[in-house]
Parts: sequence; C-alpha cells; structure tokens
Amino acid sequence: MRTQVAIIGGGPSGLLLGQLLATRGIDCIILDRQSRDHVLGRIRAGVLERGFTDLLEEAGVADRMKREGFVHDGALISYGEEAFRIDFKALTGHAVTVYGQTEVTRDLYEARDRIAGQTIHDAEDVVIHDADSNAPFVTFKVGDQSLRIECDVVAGCDGFHGVSRTTIPADRRQAFEKVYPFGWLGVLSRTPPVNHELVYASSDRGFALCSMRNTNLSRYYIQCDLSDRPEDWTDAAFWQELKRRIPAAQAANLVTGPSIEKSIAPLRSFVSEPMRWGRLFLCGDAAHIVPPTGAKGLNTAASDVHYLFEGLTQFFATGQTTGIDSYSARALARVWKAERFSWWFSSLMHRFPDQSAFDLRMQQAEIAFLRSHESAQRAMAENYVGLPY
Ligand code: APR
Ligand code: PHB
Repeated sequence: MRTQVAIIGGGPSGLLLGQLLATRGIDCIILDRQSRDHVLGRIRAGVLERGFTDLLEEAGVADRMKREGFVHDGALISYGEEAFRIDFKALTGHAVTVYGQTEVTRDLYEARDRIAGQTIHDAEDVVIHDADSNAPFVTFKVGDQSLRIECDVVAGCDGFHGVSRTTIPADRRQAFEKVYPFGWLGVLSRTPPVNHELVYASSDRGFALCSMRNTNLSRYYIQCDLSDRPEDWTDAAFWQELKRRIPAAQAANLVTGPSIEKSIAPLRSFVSEPMRWGRLFLCGDAAHIVPPTGAKGLNTAASDVHYLFEGLTQFFATGQTTGIDSYSARALARVWKAERFSWWFSSLMHRFPDQSAFDLRMQQAEIAFLRSHESAQRAMAENYVGLPY
C-alpha cells in the first residue's frame, strides 16, 4: 500500500488530522490496534476549547456538536462552602462547548466513512521504519497477514502507550514528567447534572468535579488515593463523599443514581521533546499528557493537529518545509502553556498527602486571590477557553 500520510492511531488526534488532510486532497491511511467499537467505548473528558470547535468546523464535522453540545459561559469554583463563578464570556469574549470526546470521535469516524477514508483496525505489531529518511514506511499485521505502507510522512497519533514516541531514538528525545500522588475516581450516571455549568470543588476532604454529557447524563469525579480501586467504592459511598466535598447548596440539588461507569485514572504531567524526528511527527497523547483538571488533553491534541495540518498542507502543495520544520517548536510552545495551566489548577484544587500547613495557606490565599481579583480570573479564563493557536 502507498499513501502520503500514514497516521498511527485512530483516536481524536489521528481522525481529526485525517479529516483535515482530506479537505486538501491529501491522502492518508489510519491504523489503529483496536477495533472501532473499542475506541468508541472509551469514556473521556468533554470540554472543547473554541479552537477545537473551529477545527471541527473546518473539517466539516461540527454539525452534531453544534446541535447537541452545551455552550458554557462560565464555571463554578468552590472552596468548602464558598463558591464563585468564573465568567469566561465576560472576561474573554469566549465560551467552551461541553460535548463528550466519545461523541467527537464518533462524528469523526462517521465523517471518515463518508469520504471512504481508509482506516485499518486491529493492526498489530506496528513498526515505523526509516522515519529519518525521505521514504519512511510502516509495517504491521492484521491477523496472519503482514502488511506494509509506503508513505511520505508518518503522523504518530497513537497515544501515550503507542510506538511512535519511542521510535525516536532515546538519545534524541527528552522526557519531562510529574506524577501526582492521587487519582480521580470517575462515575457516569443517567441523572440530571447538579448544576448547569461545571463545578470544580476543593475541600478539606479533597477535590471533586461535577460535569455532564447531556441533560440526563452526568459525570462526577472525586480525588482518591492511588491505592483505591473502583470496586472499593459502592455507589452510595461515592455519592456520600461527593456531597461532602461540594457546597451544601449544590449537594442539596444532587440527583444520585446507579453508576453506569466507574473508573479510576492516575494524574500525570508529561512532555516528550521534540515532537518530530525526520518525517515522523507526534500529535496529542503520543507526545504529552496533562492531569485532567483543566480539560486540556483533547484540546492540546487539537492544537498539535492544527500546526501539523498547516505544515503538511504547505509541504504537499509546494514542497516547502518551513511549516513542518517549525512544527515541533510551535506545538511545544502551546503544549507547555497547557501543561502549566493544568499543573497550576491541579496544584490549587487538590489536597496533597504531604502538604504542610504553610502549603495549605498558600492554596487558600491563591483561591482568595482568584475569588477577589478580576485579573486573576481573566488569566484563568483565557487558559480555560483556550489560548490562541
Ligand atoms: N498501533 C496502532 N494504534 C495504536 C497503537 C499502536 N501501537 N498504540 C495505540 N494506538 C491507538 C489506540 O488504540 C488509540 O485509539 O492510538 C489511539 C490513540 O488515541 P488516544 O489515546 O485517544 O490519543 P489522542 O488521539 O492523542 O487523543 C488525546 O484522548 O486519551 C485521551 O485524554 C486524552 O483527551 C485526550 C485525547
Ligand atoms: C469531564 O466532563 O469528563 C471533564 C470535564 C472537565 C474536566 C475534566 C473532565 O476538567
């Protein structure tokens, strides 16, 4: 097989890149080691920055998101019983759209079907060859068939556990990592959201987040110990703990119900530099991970895709390489700002097992400053709605 761009990974990064390339007549083949159903079965965050919704529009995949997504002009921050709203719209002129990543991925797959884009699932033993040459190729297996794709470019969109990042020789890349000493226990329930906007809660018992997918599908998280397992938490215990971490006024409105999904995610900050090696370009989780506090994972994957799409469009149209040559630096400049915001917000809102009384006072003072200073709220709002690409 031959294509212009071999995309490893059929998650949001790979699918969005493939859809954008198709708008410029650039051919690609997407490989994923899982089935489509497996990919669509993943429960992920659901807050889209303005830049992402613009990209979906550019890719011609925004219709359902515009119909079914919820535009949020703000979010509630609470510290114990005190709560205040960050008015994104008033502070920045922009809002965010609440629309599940699963739905984004589904829309992207359906759009790829409409253009008969080639997507190969259950691809095993994917290996990227000669990435540092002008004629890279990818080998892989499907069942007992060994297959090969000749290409001009490889886009590594295969997430944190993929093969793309480690295709770059260890002595040519540098990793930066911070692992947080807690996780998030998440629950999905067919219940109406507790609030019409998201509630980010910090309390003496730890962090909690009240989110949603639609008017009768809510997503809740509580900070938990790394040693916790989902089966350690009954639904009743989860709801009781959540109520203890959000303001009483919110807790009184909480509609509880059976969990239809319950899982624990660890929190880490991670960046691998550079995001390019020869004709291999990394996008999204393949290159970086953020703690979910600021909802930046999917949105930073989108800005990577935007920069790579711009570079590849120039390369295939003119042969010029200024776009792809600047890709890694441009993408990393925005990645690091997303990493900082996610780290800042996580450090502000969570209780750290080893934090001192002084550390707690610093958190309290930072939240008090955020509550009382418009300049602090504007800085937070600008990061939350998404910094310009
Ligand atoms: N070969 C082929 N495909 C692979 C391989 C491999 N060796 N390893 C992983 N994959 C596939 C996975 O099955 C997955 O579908 O790559 C895809 C990567 O998708 P994501 O992990 O979702 O990463 P990305 O597309 O960058 O999206 C980032 O997804 O995980 C969330 O929080 C993350 O919101 C962020 C978004
Ligand atoms: C979610 O809805 O899953 C969600 C929303 C906002 C976050 C993290 C997760 O910051």
